[in-house]
Amino acid sequence: MTSTLIRGGLVVTAAEETHADVLVDHGRVVALFARDTGTDLTPGADRVIDATGKYVIPGGVDAHTHMEMPFGGTYASDTFETGTRAAAWGGTTTIVDFAIQGVGKSLREGLDAWHAKADGRCAVDYGFHMILADVNDRTLKEMDTLVEEGVTSFKLFMAYPGVFYSDDGKILRAMQRAAVNGGLIMMHAENGIAIDVLVEQALAAGKTDPRYHGEVRKALLEAEATHRAIQLSRVAGSPLYVVHVSATEAVEELARARDLGLNVFGETCPQYLFLSTDNLAEPDFEGAKYVCSTPLRPVEHQAALWRGLRTNDLSVVSTDHCPFCFTGQKDLGRGDFSRIPNGLPGVENRMDLLHQAVVDGHITRRRWIELACATPARMFGLHPRKGTIAPGADADIVVYDPRAEQVISAETHHMNVDYSAYEGRRITGRVETVLSRGELVIEGREFVGRAGHGQYQPRGTCQYLL
Ligand code: URP
Ligand code: ZN
Ligand code: ZN
Repeated sequence: MTSTLIRGGLVVTAAEETHADVLVDHGRVVALFARDTGTDLTPGADRVIDATGKYVIPGGVDAHTHMEMPFGGTYASDTFETGTRAAAWGGTTTIVDFAIQGVGKSLREGLDAWHAKADGRCAVDYGFHMILADVNDRTLKEMDTLVEEGVTSFKLFMAYPGVFYSDDGKILRAMQRAAVNGGLIMMHAENGIAIDVLVEQALAAGKTDPRYHGEVRKALLEAEATHRAIQLSRVAGSPLYVVHVSATEAVEELARARDLGLNVFGETCPQYLFLSTDNLAEPDFEGAKYVCSTPLRPVEHQAALWRGLRTNDLSVVSTDHCPFCFTGQKDLGRGDFSRIPNGLPGVENRMDLLHQAVVDGHITRRRWIELACATPARMFGLHPRKGTIAPGADADIVVYDPRAEQVISAETHHMNVDYSAYEGRRITGRVETVLSRGELVIEGREFVGRAGHGQYQPRGTCQYLL
């Protein structure tokens, strides 16, 4: 094991900004040394990384990815190998992906399948949530076992009838179980039954373009489902984490619940902060590149999301990385927007886009780290190993150049997808060096990691519960 000294940078965590040198050994942070104390640690270190003028930040924790996810008759185009490599390029050193229970199958079968996809292939560390697609007595019992094994969060869908959808009774039963076993219920909150009626009506009226995806998946139907999920969780006494929040009205529901002091949390994603229905309306079927659910909203919703991120009514920014190529995948929905596979690429872009938000004055530097590293780590039971730079933590560390300029493009990104949702966007700031458990993964803008370095991370339970 190589000891590493990261010297000369500004260490930024959710709690502190300190001019300090960071000593890493045996894959973990050993100590932070205040600058100018006269102690020269350089001779004792096997490797010295010069971070002068740079930020030294914890590796990002992306708590919402879908590598190789089967969806809409195809598969998300990033494998665990390509997706985690791209994550590393973007300064993310841990992902939490969603294993899927098949209808009529056990949770164990779904989880085993996802372990088989990821094992030996990841460039950075990974954990799993479990998607509950078939809530029944057996599934409910299995939830307890999974929590004990470190799969401590379960996603349920109020959307996608006939695919992942659970009715309110099933949702309530899963929540009741989570209230007892300590699991965190994650909710895709959209009224899928009502949306399907609107989809049918839109198609019958000849409204087949991608932009109608945004029109039928109404903000009020996101808000209604968010409200319902909150009330069901109150009845069950379980915590609730609402994923990919995009609408002002849904943020209002979360704010009301949080003002009551409930264990209710919200996540949003860069696409809702930086993109809008204007993208969905791009001509020549280009709008398909932006089809995801919940959908992109009119640009006015962005202000409510930024505000929610500042007030902590939204406390995590994840990507919901679920890439489908424009050619050969998104075009399955030419002539019928409901057949466009839902999802956007982004695992490589999150840390940079949020740094741009710092530059633009939406959030502070420490809040950047809190939203992208520290809170997801605590929310999903990965703290204190992940999400911070402190003695004892895993040495998942990014040296970030806050002054570098870059332009996001599919020409230069590393995700296995033929377009970028942020094509042409200028960003101030760029990842320079990435360590995962003390090993170099990105060095001087070169990938020096390897498939199989990333290890499975069993997780504890949510660390925010009252
Ligand atoms: O459009 C999306 N979000 N695709 C991934 C599946 C999900 O609902 O998170
Ligand atoms: Zn979802
Ligand atoms: Zn998702």
